[in-house]
Amino acid sequence: MLLEAHSRINEAKPVKYWYPLSMASYGVEEILEALDSMCSFRTSMWEKTAEFERSFAKYQNCSDAVMVNSGSSADLLLSFLLTSPPSPRLERGDEILIPAVTWPTQVWSPIMAGLRVSLVDVDPDTLNISLQDLERKITDSSRAIFLVHLLGNPCDMGGILELAGKHGLIVIEDCCEALGSEWNGVKVGNFGLGAAFSFFFSHHITTMEGGMITTNDPELADRLRILRAHGWLRNVDPSRVPAGDDETDARYSFVNWGFNLRPTELQAGFGLQQLAKLPEFTGRRGKLASRFFSYIDGSRFLSRPAVSASGRPVWMALPVLLKECAPFRRHDITAYLESSGVETRPIVAGNLTRQPAARLFESLRTGSFPGADVVHDRGFYVGLSPFVEDAAMDRLIECLEAFMGRY
Ligand SMILES: Cc1ncc(COP(=O)(O)O)c(C=O)c1O
Repeated sequence: MLLEAHSRINEAKPVKYWYPLSMASYGVEEILEALDSMCSFRTSMWEKTAEFERSFAKYQNCSDAVMVNSGSSADLLLSFLLTSPPSPRLERGDEILIPAVTWPTQVWSPIMAGLRVSLVDVDPDTLNISLQDLERKITDSSRAIFLVHLLGNPCDMGGILELAGKHGLIVIEDCCEALGSEWNGVKVGNFGLGAAFSFFFSHHITTMEGGMITTNDPELADRLRILRAHGWLRNVDPSRVPAGDDETDARYSFVNWGFNLRPTELQAGFGLQQLAKLPEFTGRRGKLASRFFSYIDGSRFLSRPAVSASGRPVWMALPVLLKECAPFRRHDITAYLESSGVETRPIVAGNLTRQPAARLFESLRTGSFPGADVVHDRGFYVGLSPFVEDAAMDRLIECLEAFMGRY
């Protein structure tokens, strides 16, 4: 039955697309791991979560990793870490700078945590935060920068860290699209106070839903563990957090406010198996991306993101921008690809201020973001599953070539 299920895994997508956005990257190993948790009646957060956290921290080369139930939850906890008692690093109303092109929960999270978000334009050449606009946007109220390495392209950390140092800004990273990407030989996620990762279906590894926060500060990791689960003391090194008095039962000892954003053991089991497969996935993604981008590099009308000299991206997907000289619009090419069986998406949320939800928040309603507009109006991406076969990549390129042939 299991083998039959495995063979069906990648047929779960609608047949409409021969080049889908994502393909299942899990197999019998992950399914057996999940069954093992169910059959041993250990489904809520337990040893497998702790083991996955340790393995992930080792992979990331950081001291601690705290697993949560999604990448958005990782963004949320990181944000609340900044403003929560005891000894919050930031005060309500302090300003946090975030690029205008990202996944929206990266922006909603600090707003929910009481911070004022100031959006920064992006450089359409890299899709990442514009250093010039970042420098312009830093004010006396700025206290933190929340970066994102969009679709796997590492930000230019040299310039960013210099600015952050000069103005005393905390740096946190959203690495939800960038697992394994490096800048200057260091994995992204190690450049600030903490970093968020996502293990959603289409990401570098999947735990169905799931996420992780990494940090190099064990005390912060414990504070994240407290915020992750009710504000209670379990799963925390007792030597680092003062417990209540003798009257309080340690099993129900609450030392802070908190959420319940815990993952399940099934998710952690998936994570352990997926992490073992990650080097192979990364290698395959690299090969496919090189083939695709070498085609784009020779294209008259299309371009792809520039990578900083110190950057080594592990692309999550394959982003493309229409050059200014292109005699067609984004919709023309994406409609052609969609009707030919290639699934496409805009570059994440585009210019976030143009999303209807932005109107609900005063700080997101104003400002001009010409770089983000270019990404919004001229950008799209296609998927990059490690399970894409060479023949499918060739067919994708032929399909693009056939469209270009019209012009
Ligand atoms: C940059 C970025 N941040 C956060 C998230 C949220 O992750 P999740 O879907 O696991 O909640 C995503 C999801 O795609 C993302 O791309």
